[in-house]
Amino acid sequence: MTTTTPIADADFDFVRAIVRADSAIALEAGKEYLVESRLLTLARSQGLDSVGALVAQLRQRPASDLRYKVVEAMTTNETSFFRDITPFDALRTHIIPDLLVRRAQCQQIRIWCGAASTGQEPYSLAMLLREHFPALSSWKVQITATDISREVLEKARAGRYGQLEVNRGLPAPLLLKYFERDGVHWQIKPVLKSMVSFREMNLVGPWMIGEADIVLLRNVLIYFEVDVKRQILGNIRRVMRPDGYLLLGSAESTMNIDDNYKRVPVGRANAYQAAAAQERAA
Ligand SMILES: C[S@@+](CC[C@H](N)C(=O)[O-])C[C@H]1O[C@@H](n2cnc3c(N)ncnc32)[C@H](O)[C@@H]1O
Repeated sequence: MTTTTPIADADFDFVRAIVRADSAIALEAGKEYLVESRLLTLARSQGLDSVGALVAQLRQRPASDLRYKVVEAMTTNETSFFRDITPFDALRTHIIPDLLVRRAQCQQIRIWCGAASTGQEPYSLAMLLREHFPALSSWKVQITATDISREVLEKARAGRYGQLEVNRGLPAPLLLKYFERDGVHWQIKPVLKSMVSFREMNLVGPWMIGEADIVLLRNVLIYFEVDVKRQILGNIRRVMRPDGYLLLGSAESTMNIDDNYKRVPVGRANAYQAAAAQERAA
């Protein structure tokens, strides 16, 4: 049986400060066990036998690639196909039909999926567009997916998923239509893969993202403190078209953080528009 010694308080504080500075992820007191277990895996992959030894290396070379790896190890990459379904229902029943009318002239829709993890979210979106909106096949549709973690982006770009991953949320007909079996894996077909481009982007670093009609930023704000959430929601208003839509995760809201958004009443989805857009439409 392997036992792990709890991380030293000074090491926890050191790691916490680095993770906060580089990713804004807030590791409150009580997360020592999480830090210990994630960093032990990283320590072993570096040929070290303890988290203490890993942190000692980090202290010696704070500007090294190891620092990036420590931050990456502290990201939570949980995701699944059509996660929480309600935002996808909102896209199908309200948001895309609305944009089909509003963008009829330019025939272009740009979607940004921030914090996209291993790709299930943008690929779900691509399937939804192909299945329900054939008219878009002649439009310019751009799905840009970003994340801070290079490891998840690599997996997302590869588009290869295990059986357990495709069992989570992906209806069987879509699996058979858009994936090919490859041994114990399922490989996403080029027709879908080509619809999504992946890029590294830190939500608290420079924003290298163009204008977007739809922004999905789901299940990431929960990791940040309120001032960081406010800063990110403000930045989104600057990249989102004035009549664009923002979709947040089921436990996330703009309420009491940024009053410049109004909730769009579409099912149980946490969908928002800039308040000014709704006033104009009223
Ligand atoms: C829980 S996953 C959410 C994935 C997907 N949006 C979903 O809802 O299924 C959170 C993702 O946020 C990313 N993340 C955390 N901090 C970030 C930051 N500062 N900038 C960009 N991405 C970040 C993590 O790497 C992780 O992949």
